[in-house]
Amino acid sequence: MSVNNVVRVIPAWVMYFILLIPGAVLFWGVVQTPGPNPVETLEHGLGEYALKVLILGLLITPLRDLVGWNLIKFRRSIGLMAFFYVLAHLVVYLLLDKQLEWEPIIKDITKRPYIIVGVVSFLILLPLAITSNNLSIRKLGPIVWRKLHVWVYLAAILGALHFVLLKKTWQFEPLMYLAIFVLLIGYRWVKRMGRTAAR
Ligand code: HEM
Repeated sequence: MSVNNVVRVIPAWVMYFILLIPGAVLFWGVVQTPGPNPVETLEHGLGEYALKVLILGLLITPLRDLVGWNLIKFRRSIGLMAFFYVLAHLVVYLLLDKQLEWEPIIKDITKRPYIIVGVVSFLILLPLAITSNNLSIRKLGPIVWRKLHVWVYLAAILGALHFVLLKKTWQFEPLMYLAIFVLLIGYRWVKRMGRTAAR
């Protein structure tokens, strides 16, 4: 049975449950074994899942072009689950890390470059999540809708940059995320150039 045949029989909503599993396992792990800093474990874990699910969403087109796997029907659920992890990361930051103390939060948002970059990424992702439904596609029209959703690449780069900046030294993991997003944008750009040249 080919991947495309398997995909054909799986309803798109199943992806919401599949992508919820790592977050649920993380949460359960923290409840069972809190460790020295459970809030940080949760905050960091959710941030990293946001980046991983964003990668998954941006891989859909290259996988179709290069390997022939057609996962397009999962694009919306994957995108919305990436936003879910960003939102959960933000809620943990506001509620558990800062305990809704607005003074330190405002200080973070205005003074710490990595937080500013994270907030910008979130603010880009927010309208994309809000418009990830059929009604918005109909109202905006497919061309405007697609133009709006291209901004996901910038949000992804800023999300990875947020990770790079929070570390005081150059570290492999955040740089790897950044490199993956640069590669994915590069792929899209090369494809577009090829299409323009063929016209
Ligand atoms: C509303 C905006 C955001 C805020 C306020 C925020 C806040 C934070 C904070 C406080 C940390 C932990 C820093 C530390 O340990 O000192 C963090 C880490 C992180 N955030 Fe965010 N963040 C935001 C948006 C995002 C977005 C949009 C993404 C991804 C798309 C993201 C991904 C990450 C990652 C991957 C880490 C590091 C995890 C690790 O160290 O393993 N964040 N963020």
